[in-house]
Amino acid sequence: MKKLLEVKNLSIRFETKKGVAHAVRDISFDVFEGETLGVVGESGCGKSITNMAILGLLPENAIVTADKLEFEGEDLLSLNDKSWQKIRGGKVGMIFQDPMSSLNPCYTVEYQLNEVLKIHRPELNKAQRTDKVLSLLRDVGIPAPKERLSAYPHELSGGMSQRVMIAMAIACDPKLLIADEPTTALDVTVQGQILDLLAGLQKSKGMSVIFVSHDLSVVRDITDKIQVMYAGEVIESGQTDKVITSPLHPYTKGLLDSIPSFNDDKSELFSIPGIVPDLLARPKGCQFAKRCFNRSEKCDEQWPKIEQREERTLRCFHPVS
Ligand SMILES: Nc1ncnc2c1ncn2[C@@H]1O[C@H](COP(=O)(O)OP(=O)(O)O)[C@@H](O)[C@H]1O
Ligand SMILES: [Mg+2]
Repeated sequence: MKKLLEVKNLSIRFETKKGVAHAVRDISFDVFEGETLGVVGESGCGKSITNMAILGLLPENAIVTADKLEFEGEDLLSLNDKSWQKIRGGKVGMIFQDPMSSLNPCYTVEYQLNEVLKIHRPELNKAQRTDKVLSLLRDVGIPAPKERLSAYPHELSGGMSQRVMIAMAIACDPKLLIADEPTTALDVTVQGQILDLLAGLQKSKGMSVIFVSHDLSVVRDITDKIQVMYAGEVIESGQTDKVITSPLHPYTKGLLDSIPSFNDDKSELFSIPGIVPDLLARPKGCQFAKRCFNRSEKCDEQWPKIEQREERTLRCFHPVS
């Protein structure tokens, strides 16, 4: 398998009025062709800004450093605006939590899909574009696509809007699709349908997918590998089944114990006590130590290094198994 994305020791800092917040610290991961990577962790752990760094969409006050940040061997840290345009919405498609943030309320479904094709598929003529728009709407399971062409976003349900957004994201046959909490704002049944759709598209198009969710139960069925983030660090990563059946980091175990179906005694659902540390006042040692049931003094004093263990990576002095 070919390596599509390579991230080595990526750090993201924000200059704020109160000082420099080190929001993402030294994270490394790869995405291979056709592979689905799940990124999980509580809100504020740096999942979205990591993707923003890959897309070159971080705000002005962000300082990005990395030993490597490459897409198809191309250094993303030194791209000019024109090259970014080929990546964003071209080779890399993206969908976000809120469809309304990506769909323009003033334009019809057809107009918006057409605009994407005009920019990224200039070789298509008008009739070919219309055909492509219809086939995209079919691909994402929109019933009676012809009748939807003239619909405005507010005329669509949440699930249908999300389908249109997915159609826009895959319009250029991206090699990588970044889906950042694409189902978080949807009802549970619709959520399941969108997950099935994304899994089906991944297979039929052979895309790679980075699927971000704060909910481990959402990514467990549709990903090949998982990386768990905490306070801007990857604290554990590995093959999905391995991470789910034998979590090594106490935080991963805590996330799993918080999922109803993973917990035998449903009346006593576990929730991890405490909160994520303040990025402007990070603890000296392990970032999770304050909340960890397995900690020792060492955890407060020393920052654990990321280590390789049986095809897994782990940042912990006292793994749970
Ligand atoms: N423009 C910014 N300025 C300062 N801090 C920011 C900015 N954007 C994001 N952050 C911080 O980066 C951290 C990670 O955010 P984010 O990636 O959105 O988390 P997640 O997607 O995991 O919920 C948060 O603690 C947030 O406060
Ligand atoms: Mg986010």
